[in-house]
Amino acid sequence: MPNKILQAIYERRSRRDFTDDPVDMKDLQEIVKAGIWAPSGLNNQPWRFVIVVDPKTRKQLSATTHYSHIVLGAQALIGVFLDADDVYDRVKDQQSAGACIQNMLLAAESLSLGGVWLGQILKNKEQVNQILAIDERYELMAMLALGYPAHRNQKSNRKDLNHFILKLI
Ligand SMILES: Cc1cc2nc3c(=O)[nH]c(=O)nc-3n(C[C@H](O)[C@H](O)[C@H](O)COP(=O)(O)O)c2cc1C
Repeated sequence: MPNKILQAIYERRSRRDFTDDPVDMKDLQEIVKAGIWAPSGLNNQPWRFVIVVDPKTRKQLSATTHYSHIVLGAQALIGVFLDADDVYDRVKDQQSAGACIQNMLLAAESLSLGGVWLGQILKNKEQVNQILAIDERYELMAMLALGYPAHRNQKSNRKDLNHFILKLI
């Protein structure tokens, strides 16, 4: 596909199986940088991040989600948080976090890494803050599990475009 941006969007998949190869901290910081270049309402930039490579912390975090096998297999995790002290509009700031997370997933793919957006872990977001020793003003939006994909065979699908378009006027 000649359009690289569309190609990146269409070929990104949630990667849930990873090799044991460690992920470079420089790459993780690049992924966060791609995240912070997402649009945000009023350019409020409400997102905050915790980058985790420490095996002991990863193991502790794995116990907070039904998807512990994914967390255990990932070589790195990035927690994406909203700073409650920096929220100007809850809906818009949450939307901004979503845009940030999508940028991060696309950036990971572009660095030959892969990742998955973990939302189920939000059920235990207070526990996540405790493990990471961060203040409750930081509200978990998602945990990204990242690593070098063990394979790229993931398939996904979408409903037909017509299902979503209400009207063409
Ligand atoms: C808000 C949100 C929460 C998600 N939570 C999880 C999760 O807890 N565990 C998981 O394995 N995947 C999770 N996903 C990934 C979705 O399952 C995945 O994006 C969807 O099946 C489409 O597949 P694709 O990303 O490969 O296109 C989540 C995605 C989003 C956007």
